[in-house]
Amino acid sequence: KYFAKTLFLAKKIEFLPECQSTNDELMRRARQGTVSEGFLLWADHQTGGKGQRGNTWVSPKGQNLLFSLLLKPRKLLPKEAYLINVLAGLAVHEALEKFLDLKNVSLKWPNDIYLGGKKAGGILLEAGVTNSTIDKLVIGIGLNVNQTDFELDTATSLKGVMGYDVNREELLEQIICALERYYLLLNAGSKDTILRKYHDVMMWRGEVHWFRSGDEDFAGEIIGIDQQGRLVVKTNEQTRRFEVKEISFVR
Ligand code: BTN
Repeated sequence: KYFAKTLFLAKKIEFLPECQSTNDELMRRARQGTVSEGFLLWADHQTGGKGQRGNTWVSPKGQNLLFSLLLKPRKLLPKEAYLINVLAGLAVHEALEKFLDLKNVSLKWPNDIYLGGKKAGGILLEAGVTNSTIDKLVIGIGLNVNQTDFELDTATSLKGVMGYDVNREELLEQIICALERYYLLLNAGSKDTILRKYHDVMMWRGEVHWFRSGDEDFAGEIIGIDQQGRLVVKTNEQTRRFEVKEISFVR
């Protein structure tokens, strides 16, 4: 099984009715050396789906997209890994906008996919590092597609905003196609184009929001991200930059 529209990604695809976490399974296989760049693993159900910041990713069986893609970047430094997060987000954004004609898709820093004001998906990047360069990169994406019941009223799905079912496999192919294009763009050195695009679709950019960093709460305008993927926030006094672990949004 493979996707016809792509050049080199997802030329090998495996579907699992159930697994613990597609990220873990793919990383295990990458370590064993049984899979090569572009291998795509997708599942109908995860028993131990992982989210950002040690959270779990829960998704009902057979309704959403849960997948992991293996990249083997040639010379990516750990501090540049955020760019893969950025381009994965852009790929999902583009697929939803172009393929499904959705207008209200935005990317909440660092890697949440939002539809209107609600979260519809997320990205979890995991890297294998050898000699301080990244030689294995697992991009895990969870996207709520046809789910209609949600525990949290801050979550939604494509069906939740469009009202009808979406073909998951077609959508997956569109996402991988877009991801491939952005990945080639990055490898060709167009980092600035990618960052510009990210800024175009970044949620709340130009708006003032409340943040927490350590035990400090403060308000500031979201300016964007810098060349290292840090969030840039302008307060009354100064412009500050934060790593993912250093800051959270206060609702
Ligand atoms: C987040 O928003 O917290 C990131 C969620 C990432 C979930 C996906 S689902 C497929 C892949 N396998 C996992 O265990 N997690 C990612």
